[in-house]
Amino acid sequence: MNAPLPAEVLKQHLIDPEICIRCNTCEETCPIDAITHDANNYVVDPEICNGCMACVPPCPTGAIDNWRLVARAEAHSVHDQLGWEELPPEQAPPEATGAEAAVAAPGAPQLAAAPGAAVPPWSAAHPYVNLYTHKTPMTATVVGNYRVTGADTDSDIHHIVLDFGELPFPVLEGQSIGVLPPGLDAQGRPHHARQYSLASPRDGERAGYNNLSLTVKRVTEDHAGAAAHGVCSNYLCDLVKNDKVQVIGPFGHTFLMPNHPKANLIMICTGTGSAPMRAMTERCRRRIESGDNGKLMLFFGARTERELPYFGPLMKLPPDFIDINLALSREAGQPKRYVQDLIRDRAAKVLELLADRNTCIYVCGLKGMETGVLDALRDVTVQSGQDWSILHDALRREGRLHFETY
Ligand code: A2P
Repeated sequence: MNAPLPAEVLKQHLIDPEICIRCNTCEETCPIDAITHDANNYVVDPEICNGCMACVPPCPTGAIDNWRLVARAEAHSVHDQLGWEELPPEQAPPEATGAEAAVAAPGAPQLAAAPGAAVPPWSAAHPYVNLYTHKTPMTATVVGNYRVTGADTDSDIHHIVLDFGELPFPVLEGQSIGVLPPGLDAQGRPHHARQYSLASPRDGERAGYNNLSLTVKRVTEDHAGAAAHGVCSNYLCDLVKNDKVQVIGPFGHTFLMPNHPKANLIMICTGTGSAPMRAMTERCRRRIESGDNGKLMLFFGARTERELPYFGPLMKLPPDFIDINLALSREAGQPKRYVQDLIRDRAAKVLELLADRNTCIYVCGLKGMETGVLDALRDVTVQSGQDWSILHDALRREGRLHFETY
């Protein structure tokens, strides 16, 4: 049994800088803003952290789950942690003196209500994570790089296929990998890894080959529209066949598809958030013959058809295999539509699927859609006389509602 720590001893929450891929998930999840970052590291402020654990399940790498017993007066400061290249070694617990009954950290630990589940669907296959790290990256070879949006549009999105040759790189749909762009950052240090979701299913971009694909948008401006050069996206979009790429991962243990027959998928995405949806759809498409699939429903948002990645192949999928709903926001002569508008339009079918406990929902794409999608799901539920908070709770508890937004 864990005895309470003496008041002067702190179980300090730390992030491993060698494994962290700087995806910002922990900082976004922390309900009390105890996590911060600079150009070097993501760190936990010992003065604020109350050990609530809200940030731990969403971390794709497990870098967040590090703890050291330290004398409270000697806790590693934010300033120190920002300068770390690696975690300090484990040390013997500091000597206890005085009061025994005090808890380790101030404040009552409580789990924040994240919008999505912290567990995978019950039947998901077991994922491998962190097989390759910053210290032991894997070298992949580019075997394909194709633009998947109209050449005349501003959305330069590429489908990039990486091959692993003889080396194992086992993945599942919904997982991601990290890419280490070559060169140094402004501080003269190697660039951090950038995280990309897989666009291909577990058995490869080409079934039976040891490869996978990514969906990468060339970043030329920041969220506010100011000119910005995306280090890794430009590197990846410019790769040519036979180029070598340093890869780490795989990452992710919750945004995974159910593995039992007749499970239904509601997939909601914008832009490159389509990557995991393509992976899951392709997994299902390859087993159409087996009759194992449940119902697939897709809500996909893009500015125009020509800026919607994979538009051509997507529209060739049989309607009795997948129910496709395209939300176009800037198509000439058409009203502006977002995915959440279409969820409301298709309330009857969404409700029918939600009523089935074999249905899982996946949301991937722009951060801004998170609230819009949750509101739409709440509206369709409430209109049918159900209590959204009860359903939302069940979806989270049962690993049936997953978000990956950026
Ligand atoms: P918009 O035309 O208003 O930007 P992008 O091309 O920037 O990756 O965006 C993909 C799609 O997501 C676009 O249609 C964009 O519309 C839409 N979008 C932007 N903000 C939201 C939001 N808050 N909720 C849902 N969709 C959004």
